[in-house]
Amino acid sequence: MRKLAAGNWKMNGMAASLSEVTALLAAHPAPGCEMLLCPPATLVAAMAAQARGSALQVGGQDCHAKLSGAHTGDISAAMLADAGASHVILGHSERRADHGESDEDVRMKTGAAWAAGLVAVVCVGETEAQRDAGQTLAVVGAQLKASLPEGATAANLVIAYEPVWAIGTGRTPTLAEIAEVHGFLRAELTARFGAEAGGMRLLYGGSVKPSNATEIFALADVDGALVGGASLKAADFGAIVAALSAA
Ligand code: PGA
Repeated sequence: MRKLAAGNWKMNGMAASLSEVTALLAAHPAPGCEMLLCPPATLVAAMAAQARGSALQVGGQDCHAKLSGAHTGDISAAMLADAGASHVILGHSERRADHGESDEDVRMKTGAAWAAGLVAVVCVGETEAQRDAGQTLAVVGAQLKASLPEGATAANLVIAYEPVWAIGTGRTPTLAEIAEVHGFLRAELTARFGAEAGGMRLLYGGSVKPSNATEIFALADVDGALVGGASLKAADFGAIVAALSAA
């Protein structure tokens, strides 16, 4: 399976920030892994134009569950595809927290993404209170089950395990804790989708940076990363791409 280094710019990035993409592509024209950046919606078309013919793929950070209609301020999966996106992040914990997105919302959006030909990057992860209460596997298992429609394949689905308490905090689970969750997710996906699950990429996300990428990428069932803060700078994201390429 080809591993995936995915960056999530969140609500960061102006037109001038596309110079980071220029630098990234100059430094990593042919990485040994897939490379994806998900800028804010305002930059998807420009970044996709910049990435055309390169190793970089471009994604959105959310989409509506419907293909079009009276939903002011929302964008559809078809619009992302039309702008040049190939992927969309769905169910990020910030969407779940800020906009009250439920697992069912995420499931509907995933179906919409597939209908538009996009790869869905579906996020799951426990809060710190849930981990402290020993509920991590139950929580991510329930999110995984309810957030995915039937018909998931290795080509149309990527899962990102992102502990909420590790996002943007500089804290990460232990390597054993990451391995435990990833092994559990693989088993759950295999139970539901069969052999196809063996090819689904399972990304770890939450304070991935150049200094911890290599040890995280050495873990079984970690097939890449979803990177927030460290994806904004070409040097940092490029170092993570290099670490994944070498894993
Ligand atoms: P972080 O964010 O790398 O800044 O912790 C990860 C994410 O939310 O995808």
